[in-house]
Amino acid sequence: MASKLRLAIVGAGLIGKRHIQHVLAEPETALAAIVDPSDAARALADELGVRWFAQLTDMTANDAPDGVIIATPNQLHMAHGLEAISAGLPALIEKPVADDIESAERLVQAGEAAHVPILIGHHRRHNPLLRRAKEIIDSGQLGRVSVIHAMFWLFKPDDYFNVAWRTQPGAGPVFLNLIHDIDNLRFLFGDIIAVQARESHKIRGYEVEDTSVILLEFASGTLATVSVCDTVVAPWSWEMTSGENPAYPHEKQPSIFVGGTHASLTLPGLELWRNADLRSWEKPFEKSRIPIAPADPLAIQISHFCQVIRGTEQPLCSAREGLETLRVIEAVKRAAASGQQIRLNPNSTVQRDRP
Ligand SMILES: NC(=O)c1ccc[n+]([C@@H]2O[C@H](COP(=O)([O-])OP(=O)(O)OC[C@H]3O[C@@H](n4cnc5c(N)ncnc54)[C@H](O)[C@@H]3O)[C@@H](O)[C@H]2O)c1
Repeated sequence: MASKLRLAIVGAGLIGKRHIQHVLAEPETALAAIVDPSDAARALADELGVRWFAQLTDMTANDAPDGVIIATPNQLHMAHGLEAISAGLPALIEKPVADDIESAERLVQAGEAAHVPILIGHHRRHNPLLRRAKEIIDSGQLGRVSVIHAMFWLFKPDDYFNVAWRTQPGAGPVFLNLIHDIDNLRFLFGDIIAVQARESHKIRGYEVEDTSVILLEFASGTLATVSVCDTVVAPWSWEMTSGENPAYPHEKQPSIFVGGTHASLTLPGLELWRNADLRSWEKPFEKSRIPIAPADPLAIQISHFCQVIRGTEQPLCSAREGLETLRVIEAVKRAAASGQQIRLNPNSTVQRDRP
């Protein structure tokens, strides 16, 4: 077996600590260091017996690992990503790729120019159920997909908003949560070329939206409606329905509906609905549930990152893919602010490298 890959965690906060657990559990990896200026991170490094650095430059100048996992606040992703690239270190950067389009484009171009692979932490792409859904859709079993509806409906407790930045533009459910759903949809159905949206903040009254309703047009011609609301008591979101994160209750409900000319599919449950033989609204349905073995997508993502570092796999979600997902999110906000349809031109700046 090849020697273990030494990975460093940059930013040992909420998600960084989960990455640390996965790096420790993954047979192919060893935890090389924790980079995070906080006292808590320093204490954690001591507890785990690994090196601690306050800043990424301190580590790269000292003891370069085989790869870094960047889980710092969004505003630092570009700077940390560029540092990793200039040190030649493959990086797994948490989503969003950066906090704005310009920074994300800089990161994409720097990584590609230096041939340093960047994997973006849209970890749901690694979930076996999403992979299986993609196989079903790509196999043509559904016929032509004409319509999609996706829901992100849940209730964030009032004290979640005690942290000031969470009430301000850029920190609402569109930027924080919908980005995952949009990445799911892009992974399954390809490029989005037009966006319309309305949003409201009527319930909570903060500057940031609590509700957004969105129309999407895909390059394939498929149309989708997506509704987002973090102020309703409801189970219909990937968070509550996928069982992916043990922090949330697992309700076996659909949160994405995919309508095809020959069959329809719900996610995450992978229920397939079709007519037994002739398609007709008068015929009974044949309903089946496609079985999958559940697995933790964060663990699979670390294992995939190892293959990316070894050069045996291309990033499943490259920095460019992260950029294209971010463009859609930015378009949702612009469409809601202007009342206009926003047309997107994927890869207007650079050529596409689909995995
Ligand atoms: N994939 C997911 O489902 C998921 C879930 C949560 C968060 N995230 C993303 O992960 C990132 C971190 O989010 P979080 O909720 O863990 O935040 P957090 O605030 O809990 O953690 C951020 C950590 O970064 C550290 N930090 C700050 N400046 C630093 C610097 N210069 N160098 C090194 N470390 C520094 C902080 O001390 C803190 O420990 C965000 O980009 C967020 O969008 C992704």
